[in-house]
Amino acid sequence: MKKIVLMLTAILMLLTLTGCGGGEKKAEKKEAAPAAKQTEAVTKKAEAAPAPAAGGKKILVAYFSRTGEEYGVGVITKGNTAIVADAIAEITGGDKFEIKTVKPYPHDYRETTDIAKKEQQDNARPEIVEKPANLKDYDTVFLGYPIWWSDLPMAVYTFLENNDFNGKTIIPFCTSAGSYMTGKESRIPDHAKGAAVLNKGLGLPGRLSQDDPKTVKSEVEHWLKEIGYAK
Ligand SMILES: Cc1cc2nc3c(=O)[nH]c(=O)nc-3n(C[C@H](O)[C@H](O)[C@H](O)COP(=O)(O)O)c2cc1C
Repeated sequence: MKKIVLMLTAILMLLTLTGCGGGEKKAEKKEAAPAAKQTEAVTKKAEAAPAPAAGGKKILVAYFSRTGEEYGVGVITKGNTAIVADAIAEITGGDKFEIKTVKPYPHDYRETTDIAKKEQQDNARPEIVEKPANLKDYDTVFLGYPIWWSDLPMAVYTFLENNDFNGKTIIPFCTSAGSYMTGKESRIPDHAKGAAVLNKGLGLPGRLSQDDPKTVKSEVEHWLKEIGYAK
């Protein structure tokens, strides 16, 4: 029942948005990032060092995040989830890895939702640019993504299925228009064979990243303390 309510909320939200063209803040931020600059470069340290605040665990913060016209925030040059990923990496001392699709999604929000819907219906696996180097060195992988049609973006499944997560702990976090995790994260081990998923993931409203990154950081810190990844 809860899932049906969440689905209906998401569909209503998307229909509302596509009907009114992306919200009034769109006019405030006209500059779109050029495609090549839409995402931040992969940040990897030469070797995975133990994160000081996380009991010696080696941490990777892997995330997928889109820029361009986005729900409720106008045009953004840094993705909502990317901002949360930054906070997690900063507090835990983890390395970052950005999941990037070979074919970028359009700048336009509605076009993106149409493509994403089709990908979901087809259970597609969009090709991703590269794998993280030395994944074997990490104990914990924080996995970040925006909620797309009440699910993970299909490219995140590509990432999970194309890498070896055996023995690792995956900790999901997401941003969305509804600020919830949809429950799909519990299926992550079906795609990342051998991984354990920490159920206590973090879901934040995407607009908070753009409007109030300080609060994002304190929410992240509070959550990391709860799950034992920050002091
Ligand atoms: C293709 C697509 C589908 C979306 N579907 C949902 C949804 O089902 N529920 C929801 O709350 N938000 C949905 N959103 C809104 C995003 O989850 C939200 O704006 C998120 O913060 C974007 O993060 P990003 O900038 O890291 O990509 C959708 C956005 C896109 C582009």
